[in-house]
Amino acid sequence: MKMKVGAESSREAYKVFTFKDDDENSEESLSVTIPEMLDPQFGMYVWPCAVVLAQFLWNRRRELKNKTVLELGAGVALPGVAAALLGSSVLLSDSAELPQCLENCARSCRTNGLKVVPAPGPGVPCSAVPVLGLSWGHVSPRLLSLPRVDLILGSDVFYDPQDFESVLVTVAFLFRKNPLAQFWTTYQVRSSDWSLELLLARWSMSCESVPLGSFEADKPELAGSHLPGNHSIQMMVIAPDDGRRSQCRQTQHRGDGDNARGKHD
Ligand SMILES: C[S@@+](CC[C@H](N)C(=O)[O-])C[C@H]1O[C@@H](n2cnc3c(N)ncnc32)[C@H](O)[C@@H]1O
Repeated sequence: MKMKVGAESSREAYKVFTFKDDDENSEESLSVTIPEMLDPQFGMYVWPCAVVLAQFLWNRRRELKNKTVLELGAGVALPGVAAALLGSSVLLSDSAELPQCLENCARSCRTNGLKVVPAPGPGVPCSAVPVLGLSWGHVSPRLLSLPRVDLILGSDVFYDPQDFESVLVTVAFLFRKNPLAQFWTTYQVRSSDWSLELLLARWSMSCESVPLGSFEADKPELAGSHLPGNHSIQMMVIAPDDGRRSQCRQTQHRGDGDNARGKHD
Protein backbone atom coordinates (compact mmCIF):
# COMPACT_ATOMS: atom_id res chain seq x y z
CA MET A 1 0.00 0.00 0.00
CA LYS A 2 1.46 3.31 -1.04
CA MET A 3 0.77 6.95 -0.30
CA LYS A 4 2.66 9.43 -2.43
CA VAL A 5 3.00 13.05 -1.51
CA GLY A 6 3.76 15.56 -4.24
CA ALA A 7 3.46 19.30 -4.52
CA GLU A 8 1.87 21.34 -7.28
CA SER A 9 2.42 24.69 -5.63
CA SER A 10 3.56 25.82 -2.23
CA ARG A 11 -0.07 25.83 -1.01
CA GLU A 12 -1.28 22.57 -2.56
CA ALA A 13 -0.07 19.01 -2.10
CA TYR A 14 -1.40 15.68 -3.30
CA LYS A 15 -1.87 12.45 -1.34
CA VAL A 16 -2.57 9.15 -3.04
CA PHE A 17 -4.51 6.50 -1.07
CA THR A 18 -4.42 2.95 -2.40
CA PHE A 19 -6.99 0.49 -1.03
CA LYS A 20 -6.31 -3.25 -1.35
CA ASP A 21 -7.48 -6.37 0.43
CA ASP A 22 -5.15 -7.99 2.95
CA ASP A 23 -5.50 -11.18 0.90
CA GLU A 24 -2.30 -11.27 -1.13
CA ASN A 25 -4.00 -13.20 -3.94
CA SER A 26 -6.42 -10.37 -4.61
CA GLU A 27 -5.36 -8.07 -7.42
CA GLU A 28 -8.19 -5.58 -6.99
CA SER A 29 -7.23 -2.11 -5.81
CA LEU A 30 -8.51 1.45 -5.79
CA SER A 31 -6.34 4.56 -5.88
CA VAL A 32 -7.74 7.96 -4.96
CA THR A 33 -5.68 11.14 -5.29
CA ILE A 34 -6.63 13.95 -2.93
CA PRO A 35 -5.30 17.50 -3.33
CA GLU A 36 -4.89 19.22 0.02
CA MET A 37 -4.50 22.92 0.71
CA LEU A 38 -1.93 23.93 3.27
CA ASP A 39 -4.43 25.92 5.25
CA PRO A 40 -5.60 25.75 8.86
CA GLN A 41 -9.31 25.33 7.95
CA PHE A 42 -10.89 21.96 8.82
CA GLY A 43 -12.08 21.08 5.33
CA MET A 44 -8.78 21.54 3.56
CA TYR A 45 -7.15 18.19 4.18
CA VAL A 46 -7.90 14.53 4.81
CA TRP A 47 -8.78 13.63 8.42
CA PRO A 48 -7.93 10.20 9.90
CA CYS A 49 -11.63 9.29 10.03
CA ALA A 50 -11.85 9.71 6.25
CA VAL A 51 -9.29 7.00 5.59
CA VAL A 52 -11.19 4.60 7.88
CA LEU A 53 -14.54 5.39 6.24
CA ALA A 54 -13.02 4.99 2.75
CA GLN A 55 -11.61 1.62 3.87
CA PHE A 56 -15.14 0.61 4.96
CA LEU A 57 -16.43 1.60 1.52
CA TRP A 58 -13.67 -0.40 -0.12
CA ASN A 59 -14.61 -3.40 2.03
CA ARG A 60 -18.31 -3.01 1.06
CA ARG A 61 -17.58 -2.07 -2.55
CA ARG A 62 -19.93 -4.67 -4.01
CA GLU A 63 -22.85 -2.97 -2.20
CA LEU A 64 -22.01 0.43 -3.66
CA LYS A 65 -22.70 -0.23 -7.33
CA ASN A 66 -25.65 1.85 -8.57
CA LYS A 67 -26.36 3.35 -5.15
CA THR A 68 -26.97 7.07 -4.64
CA VAL A 69 -24.64 8.35 -1.96
CA LEU A 70 -24.58 11.77 -0.28
CA GLU A 71 -21.54 12.87 1.71
CA LEU A 72 -22.06 15.49 4.42
CA GLY A 73 -19.22 17.78 5.59
CA ALA A 74 -17.12 16.24 2.85
CA GLY A 75 -14.10 18.59 2.96
CA VAL A 76 -11.62 17.09 0.50
CA ALA A 77 -14.06 14.17 0.12
CA LEU A 78 -11.90 11.04 0.18
CA PRO A 79 -14.88 8.75 1.03
CA GLY A 80 -17.24 10.36 -1.50
CA VAL A 81 -14.69 10.26 -4.29
CA ALA A 82 -13.90 6.62 -3.43
CA ALA A 83 -17.65 5.78 -3.59
CA ALA A 84 -17.92 7.46 -7.00
CA LEU A 85 -14.92 5.51 -8.31
CA LEU A 86 -16.51 2.33 -6.92
CA GLY A 87 -19.67 2.82 -8.98
CA SER A 88 -22.05 4.94 -6.88
CA SER A 89 -23.79 8.11 -8.01
CA VAL A 90 -22.37 10.58 -5.55
CA LEU A 91 -23.45 13.99 -4.27
CA LEU A 92 -20.86 15.87 -2.23
CA SER A 93 -21.73 18.56 0.26
CA ASP A 94 -20.13 20.88 2.75
CA SER A 95 -21.23 24.00 4.55
CA ALA A 96 -23.02 26.51 2.30
CA GLU A 97 -21.05 29.18 4.18
CA LEU A 98 -17.66 27.69 3.25
CA PRO A 99 -17.22 28.05 -0.52
CA GLN A 100 -13.55 27.13 -0.21
CA CYS A 101 -14.56 23.68 1.14
CA LEU A 102 -16.98 23.24 -1.75
CA GLU A 103 -14.14 24.11 -4.13
CA ASN A 104 -12.05 21.42 -2.39
CA CYS A 105 -14.77 18.84 -3.05
CA ALA A 106 -14.79 19.85 -6.70
CA ARG A 107 -10.99 19.81 -6.96
CA SER A 108 -10.82 16.28 -5.52
CA CYS A 109 -13.38 15.11 -8.08
CA ARG A 110 -11.57 16.67 -11.02
CA THR A 111 -8.22 15.24 -9.85
CA ASN A 112 -9.78 11.77 -10.05
CA GLY A 113 -11.36 12.29 -13.48
CA LEU A 114 -14.89 12.92 -12.17
CA LYS A 115 -17.03 15.61 -13.79
CA VAL A 116 -18.42 18.20 -11.37
CA VAL A 117 -21.85 19.80 -11.76
CA PRO A 118 -23.50 22.48 -9.62
CA ALA A 119 -26.69 20.49 -8.94
CA PRO A 120 -28.43 17.18 -9.69
CA GLY A 121 -31.16 17.27 -12.29
CA PRO A 122 -32.53 15.85 -15.52
CA GLY A 123 -29.84 15.23 -18.09
CA VAL A 124 -27.02 15.12 -15.53
CA PRO A 125 -25.17 11.81 -16.06
CA CYS A 126 -25.00 9.63 -12.93
CA SER A 127 -21.20 9.64 -13.18
CA ALA A 128 -21.15 13.45 -12.70
CA VAL A 129 -20.83 14.68 -9.12
CA PRO A 130 -23.00 17.56 -7.89
CA VAL A 131 -21.21 19.64 -5.25
CA LEU A 132 -23.75 21.25 -2.95
CA GLY A 133 -23.78 23.74 -0.10
CA LEU A 134 -25.66 21.90 2.69
CA SER A 135 -25.26 23.34 6.17
CA TRP A 136 -26.15 20.95 8.98
CA GLY A 137 -29.43 21.62 10.71
CA HIS A 138 -30.76 23.92 7.97
CA VAL A 139 -33.77 22.71 6.03
CA SER A 140 -32.78 24.68 2.95
CA PRO A 141 -34.30 24.60 -0.56
CA ARG A 142 -31.17 22.66 -1.59
CA LEU A 143 -31.85 19.96 1.03
CA LEU A 144 -35.54 19.85 0.08
CA SER A 145 -34.72 19.32 -3.59
CA LEU A 146 -32.31 16.39 -3.16
CA PRO A 147 -33.04 13.22 -5.12
CA ARG A 148 -33.58 9.86 -3.39
CA VAL A 149 -30.47 8.71 -1.51
CA ASP A 150 -29.51 5.21 -0.38
CA LEU A 151 -26.50 6.07 1.73
CA ILE A 152 -25.34 9.10 3.65
CA LEU A 153 -21.65 9.38 4.52
CA GLY A 154 -20.06 11.50 7.22
CA SER A 155 -16.40 11.35 8.13
CA ASP A 156 -15.40 13.24 11.27
CA VAL A 157 -18.55 15.33 11.25
CA PHE A 158 -18.99 14.77 15.01
CA TYR A 159 -15.96 16.81 16.03
CA ASP A 160 -17.69 19.65 17.86
CA PRO A 161 -20.44 18.70 20.34
CA GLN A 162 -22.24 21.96 19.53
CA ASP A 163 -22.88 20.60 16.03
CA PHE A 164 -23.83 17.01 16.92
CA GLU A 165 -27.56 17.66 16.95
CA SER A 166 -27.45 19.77 13.77
CA VAL A 167 -25.80 16.88 11.91
CA LEU A 168 -28.51 14.52 13.19
CA VAL A 169 -31.29 16.98 12.27
CA THR A 170 -30.08 16.85 8.65
CA VAL A 171 -29.79 13.06 8.77
CA ALA A 172 -33.26 12.75 10.37
CA PHE A 173 -34.72 14.85 7.56
CA LEU A 174 -33.03 12.62 4.98
CA PHE A 175 -34.24 9.45 6.76
CA ARG A 176 -37.81 10.76 6.70
CA LYS A 177 -37.59 11.10 2.90
CA ASN A 178 -35.52 7.89 2.52
CA PRO A 179 -36.66 5.43 5.19
CA LEU A 180 -34.39 2.64 3.93
CA ALA A 181 -31.27 4.81 3.90
CA GLN A 182 -28.35 4.35 6.29
CA PHE A 183 -25.81 6.85 7.61
CA TRP A 184 -22.26 5.44 7.54
CA THR A 185 -20.07 7.58 9.72
CA THR A 186 -16.67 7.54 11.38
CA TYR A 187 -16.18 9.31 14.66
CA GLN A 188 -12.92 10.20 16.37
CA VAL A 189 -13.19 9.79 20.14
CA ARG A 190 -11.69 13.05 21.38
CA SER A 191 -13.34 13.12 24.80
CA SER A 192 -14.92 10.37 26.88
CA ASP A 193 -17.55 12.94 27.94
CA TRP A 194 -19.02 13.11 24.43
CA SER A 195 -21.87 10.83 23.54
CA LEU A 196 -24.38 10.55 20.74
CA GLU A 197 -26.68 8.15 22.49
CA LEU A 198 -29.28 10.60 23.87
CA LEU A 199 -29.41 12.48 20.60
CA LEU A 200 -29.88 9.28 18.61
CA ALA A 201 -32.81 8.38 20.87
CA ARG A 202 -34.28 11.88 20.49
CA TRP A 203 -34.15 11.62 16.69
CA SER A 204 -35.38 7.99 16.64
CA MET A 205 -32.23 6.47 15.25
CA SER A 206 -30.45 3.24 16.02
CA CYS A 207 -26.74 2.78 15.74
CA GLU A 208 -24.55 -0.21 15.10
CA SER A 209 -20.90 0.11 16.01
CA VAL A 210 -18.80 -1.81 13.48
CA PRO A 211 -15.48 -3.23 14.77
CA LEU A 212 -12.58 -1.91 12.72
CA GLY A 213 -11.09 -5.39 12.53
CA SER A 214 -14.12 -6.58 10.57
CA PHE A 215 -13.05 -4.43 7.60
CA GLU A 216 -9.27 -4.58 7.97
CA ALA A 217 -9.04 -1.07 9.46
CA ASP A 218 -7.62 -1.96 12.87
CA LYS A 219 -4.10 -0.81 12.02
CA PRO A 220 -2.21 2.46 12.19
CA GLU A 221 -1.43 2.48 8.46
CA LEU A 222 -4.29 2.24 5.98
CA ALA A 223 -4.29 2.67 2.23
CA GLY A 224 -0.62 3.57 2.46
CA SER A 225 -1.39 6.41 4.87
CA HIS A 226 -0.18 6.82 8.44
CA LEU A 227 -3.07 9.18 9.17
CA PRO A 228 -5.19 6.72 11.20
CA GLY A 229 -2.19 6.22 13.54
CA ASN A 230 -3.28 5.53 17.07
CA HIS A 231 -6.34 7.75 16.95
CA SER A 232 -9.36 6.17 18.53
CA ILE A 233 -11.86 5.97 15.69
CA GLN A 234 -15.27 4.33 15.62
CA MET A 235 -17.23 3.22 12.58
CA MET A 236 -20.99 3.48 13.02
CA VAL A 237 -23.95 2.53 10.88
CA ILE A 238 -26.91 4.69 11.88
CA ALA A 239 -30.41 3.94 10.63
CA PRO A 240 -33.98 5.01 11.35
CA ASP A 241 -34.97 3.20 14.55
CA ASP A 242 -37.42 0.49 13.57
CA GLY A 243 -38.27 -0.20 17.21
CA ARG A 244 -36.67 -3.61 17.14
CA ARG A 245 -33.04 -2.67 17.62
CA SER A 246 -31.41 -1.39 20.75
CA GLN A 247 -30.26 2.21 20.50
CA CYS A 248 -26.57 1.44 20.12
CA ARG A 249 -25.22 -2.04 19.63
CA GLN A 250 -21.98 -3.53 18.52
CA THR A 251 -21.74 -6.01 15.66
CA GLN A 252 -19.80 -9.05 16.73
CA HIS A 253 -17.47 -10.55 14.18
CA ARG A 254 -15.52 -13.71 14.75
CA GLY A 255 -11.98 -12.94 15.81
CA ASP A 256 -12.63 -9.25 16.46
CA GLY A 257 -11.19 -7.82 19.58
CA ASP A 258 -11.72 -4.16 20.37
CA ASN A 259 -14.33 -2.16 18.62
CA ALA A 260 -11.86 0.46 17.54
CA ARG A 261 -8.19 1.19 17.67
CA GLY A 262 -6.91 2.86 20.76
CA LYS A 263 -8.36 2.86 24.20
CA HIS A 264 -11.85 4.19 24.72
CA ASP A 265 -15.20 3.21 26.21
C1 LIG B 1 -13.17 17.66 10.63
S1 LIG B 1 -13.57 18.17 9.00
C2 LIG B 1 -13.79 16.59 8.17
C3 LIG B 1 -13.64 16.73 6.69
C4 LIG B 1 -13.74 15.42 5.93
N1 LIG B 1 -15.06 14.84 6.08
C5 LIG B 1 -12.67 14.45 6.37
O1 LIG B 1 -12.94 13.59 7.22
O2 LIG B 1 -11.54 14.54 5.86
C6 LIG B 1 -15.27 18.70 9.19
C7 LIG B 1 -15.95 19.13 7.91
O3 LIG B 1 -17.28 19.57 8.20
C8 LIG B 1 -17.54 20.76 7.51
N2 LIG B 1 -18.53 21.55 8.28
C9 LIG B 1 -18.30 22.25 9.42
N3 LIG B 1 -19.42 22.83 9.85
C10 LIG B 1 -20.38 22.49 8.95
C11 LIG B 1 -21.78 22.79 8.87
N4 LIG B 1 -22.38 23.56 9.77
N5 LIG B 1 -22.47 22.27 7.84
C12 LIG B 1 -21.86 21.49 6.91
N6 LIG B 1 -20.54 21.18 6.94
C13 LIG B 1 -19.82 21.67 7.95
C14 LIG B 1 -16.19 21.46 7.43
O4 LIG B 1 -16.16 22.43 6.40
C15 LIG B 1 -15.27 20.28 7.18
O5 LIG B 1 -15.17 19.99 5.82
